[in-house]
Amino acid sequence: MKIKLEQAHRLLSQGHVVAVPTETVYGLAASLKHPKAIADIFSLKGRPSNNPLIIHLASVKDIHAYVHTFPNQFFALAHAFWPGPLTVVLDVIPDTIPEIVRAGLPTAAFRIPSHPLTQELLAKTGPLVMPSANLSGKPSATCSEHVEEDFGQHFPVLEGGTCAQGLESTILYWNKGFWEIIRLGAIAPGRFLPILGYCPQIRSFNAKSDKEPLCPGQLHKHYAPKAHLKPLSDGFDRLTSGCIIGFEDRQYPKTCRVLNLGLSTKPESAAQRLYALLRQLDQENIPEAWVDINLPQEGLWLTLLERLHKASQSARD
Ligand code: TXA
Ligand code: MG
Repeated sequence: MKIKLEQAHRLLSQGHVVAVPTETVYGLAASLKHPKAIADIFSLKGRPSNNPLIIHLASVKDIHAYVHTFPNQFFALAHAFWPGPLTVVLDVIPDTIPEIVRAGLPTAAFRIPSHPLTQELLAKTGPLVMPSANLSGKPSATCSEHVEEDFGQHFPVLEGGTCAQGLESTILYWNKGFWEIIRLGAIAPGRFLPILGYCPQIRSFNAKSDKEPLCPGQLHKHYAPKAHLKPLSDGFDRLTSGCIIGFEDRQYPKTCRVLNLGLSTKPESAAQRLYALLRQLDQENIPEAWVDINLPQEGLWLTLLERLHKASQSARD
């Protein structure tokens, strides 16, 4: 059910959960002041309690209520990327953030979104926690219809159009004197170079990795449609039937159905379309699809490749 800003403000202040647009993906929002509403987010999504939530704020100055000491270059990052699709994990002052939000960790994740409606809403409501507005493990929602698909026609959604980025925020974590990327996202890694003077290392976690995840929630399955995705980097000419997730400037067999992510030179448009397309597979009950992953291992393509990899891997788990 599409609602307007005033109604979203009222529902959130009364301790209800409301879906809210951001420039990355839609979020399932609850006020930081309402622990019961925060608990409802976990049950609505089917989200494991060991997966912490991002705290969304109206402006950088609001962080001082929760954080005493800021890592090197934090304010340079904030100045360069906020408001926008950056999330930063910081050590928090004990007892300032409910344990349920942090999943018991001594840290919390913060983001200042740039979507004008979200900004306006946050200015009225104060801090909101928001995971992506999808059932746990499923592709994120990039328009209000996706939210209704997962949570029902009557679920309140602040209508904010299609998300401009289409991929979740990039998450940074300060580790032993350097910033690291703990989730690839809408900000390509190279964009940090001019601000930090180095490109942050990408820390990847999976069940087989020898590295400990920063929070156990990072090991849960993500972004997966019901459809079985099969990554392929060449040999498309040998396919005779089936569905291919590909690009409009590439040739595939005429006997295959192609769902296209736009031009293979435009990662931004592929990012905007990705989740809608993964959802389309399930809407049309398509059981499996090949995915063209013959893409550069750089820039925003890295995020797209990671999402496609997780979506295809999880489908088999
Ligand atoms: O773009 C986004 O970030 C969207 C929009 C709605 O803002 N939100 C989003 O939230 O993607 P979610 O819950 O789907 O993903 C947030 C991830 C969690 O999976 C968790 O791994 C990580 O952020 N996270 C949160 N708090 C953390 C912490 N204290 N330490 C390490 N990772 C944390
Ligand atoms: Mg999510």
